[in-house]
Amino acid sequence: MATETETAENVQQPASFLQLPTAGAVIRHLYVHIPFCARICPYCAFYKERADPAQTQRFCEALLGELKKLSKHFRLEPETIFFGGGTPTALSTDQLGFVLDGFREDLDLSRLAEWTIEANPGSVSPRKANMLKALGVTRISLGVQSWDDALLSILGREHNSAQAEASFRMLREAGFKNVSLDLMFGLPGQTPAQWEDTLLRTVSLAPDHISAYCLTYEEDTEFFLRQTRREYRSEIETDAAFFETSMRVLEAAGYEQYEISNYARAGYESVHNRGYWSGADYLGIGPSAFSTVGTERWQNVCDYRNYSDRVLGGYSAVVSIEKLTPSIKRSEQIALGLRTRWGVPAEWLREKNQCEEFVTLGLLRHEESRFVLTQKGRLLADSVAEAFI
Ligand SMILES: C[S@@+](CC[C@H](N)C(=O)[O-])C[C@H]1O[C@@H](n2cnc3c(N)ncnc32)[C@H](O)[C@@H]1O
Ligand code: SF4
Repeated sequence: MATETETAENVQQPASFLQLPTAGAVIRHLYVHIPFCARICPYCAFYKERADPAQTQRFCEALLGELKKLSKHFRLEPETIFFGGGTPTALSTDQLGFVLDGFREDLDLSRLAEWTIEANPGSVSPRKANMLKALGVTRISLGVQSWDDALLSILGREHNSAQAEASFRMLREAGFKNVSLDLMFGLPGQTPAQWEDTLLRTVSLAPDHISAYCLTYEEDTEFFLRQTRREYRSEIETDAAFFETSMRVLEAAGYEQYEISNYARAGYESVHNRGYWSGADYLGIGPSAFSTVGTERWQNVCDYRNYSDRVLGGYSAVVSIEKLTPSIKRSEQIALGLRTRWGVPAEWLREKNQCEEFVTLGLLRHEESRFVLTQKGRLLADSVAEAFI
């Protein structure tokens, strides 16, 4: 949650990326965090707040201020831009237009292959969708979560299934050829049959990409509290059944599982996420956003008012900097790479001993010069990765 707002006067000069040996680095991936939501979902641990309309335009100006500052220090030539949140479409059409115009003015977009915006059903309108399309957004990630209205209500969503379907159609009508739908499974009281229905209704709409996440009971959320009070339960065996259902239904419908939680029609894998999973450098803009360049990782302040005060007052938004050792970097690359269908170079795992054991157990397989998780291995991806990091 937000901490008390600091004014520019009382902000100490904090740690800054300007002190890092990263000057001139070429950046191909940008993440932009928009922390506003119309309603706060009881399971969500991302940094987000209900928007204060008196602050949002100022926040948009701060985003462009941070972009300008970053563009003086780095060579920003993005192949991908990802506006996430929170809910970027919680901004008004005019505010989104203002931010997107600023990005188009300040960036060299000649290499841009993908510009994604996360959207919630309920905050998409034909005018907003047309404006996003006109300003160069190429991909929308729409948070449907479920097609079951009773489950949507348990999730505290602001929309019902009919509104989600109408939003999807609105995006298609605006001309978006790359639309991804986010779904969650393992929800309180959800049966595998309900999950299968949600998957089937999803594929009947023919989105280009589907993210299917197992509900995590994140600390500091209402769902976590309910779980500790035993009102909600997460059962590993049922989660595995949900996960197997996802793989079966989505693959039969022509979606390839290219990462544990992500499925795409051929050619529609997320370029941004692939960059992140392969360990590429990226810059994060906005409150709470992380950046990683070379062996440096830093994070911006997790409070959008404080963030705006800092940036507009000429101060750094960075509140922490971490040095990544080669061993930390390699461990992260193994953990992220193993979750993808491309796996990791065999020599990264051979340095460790457990490799052949996992092959014998049927969890890993050799594919040319790489190790890739088998279908059985994908059910235990985190445990397999843990053995190597
Ligand atoms: C940044 S979030 C939010 C995007 C958008 N605001 C929304 O809610 O639709 C991206 C996705 O993360 C997933 N997610 C959020 N909290 C989760 C949790 N506790 N467990 C599993 N998935 C979660 C949801 O599927 C969500 O669409
Ligand atoms: S899940 Fe999405 S809409 Fe719900 S609180 Fe989190 S970011 Fe906001």
